[in-house]
Amino acid sequence: MTDPVIRIRGLENRFGSHVVHEGLDLDVRRGEVLGVAGGSGTGKSVLLRSIVGLQTPTAGLDPIGALAFDRLMRELVAALGLTVFLVTHDLDTLHALCDRIAVLAERRVLACGTMDDMLEVDHPWVRDYFHGPRGRAARGLPPLDPDRS
Ligand SMILES: Nc1ncnc2c1ncn2[C@@H]1O[C@H](COP(=O)(O)OP(=O)(O)OP(=O)(O)O)[C@@H](O)[C@H]1O
Ligand SMILES: [Mg+2]
Repeated sequence: MTDPVIRIRGLENRFGSHVVHEGLDLDVRRGEVLGVAGGSGTGKSVLLRSIVGLQTPTAGLDPIGALAFDRLMRELVAALGLTVFLVTHDLDTLHALCDRIAVLAERRVLACGTMDDMLEVDHPWVRDYFHGPRGRAARGLPPLDPDRS
């Protein structure tokens, strides 16, 4: 593996007695697009403020705008050799743009890897998020028949 451009070990963030991150480890590799996902309040924005990057860039954009954003980012990354750290709830962006995904849960990076890796993670939030209807749609799969168990 190439040397990480950002290397975080044992990060702790707290507000008074409220511990947001504890023992958080994360590497961002040179030239990769790393997406950070996680439920509301898991500390994505706090993590971002702890380092550098873009903040929830596609929030509030319509689907066409978000698609154009994904394309623009890919072109910039390829042309300029950028390393990108982005926070997003958008499964289409995670799927189309990100080389790797870091999932925040339980005050740390619970899992970090490709979309395929995320599909193997045995954790309730991760399962619901990536195997849910929007996760399936982002991977181009049809909705599951709700009548079939
Ligand atoms: N300035 C602050 N003072 C006190 N608590 C804070 C502050 N900023 C964030 N928090 C708390 O830290 C936790 C993580 O917040 P953060 O905004 O990073 O979550 P998030 O993962 O970005 O959520 P969302 O998906 O809703 O954007 C939350 O419980 C939040 O209430
Ligand atoms: Mg946030």
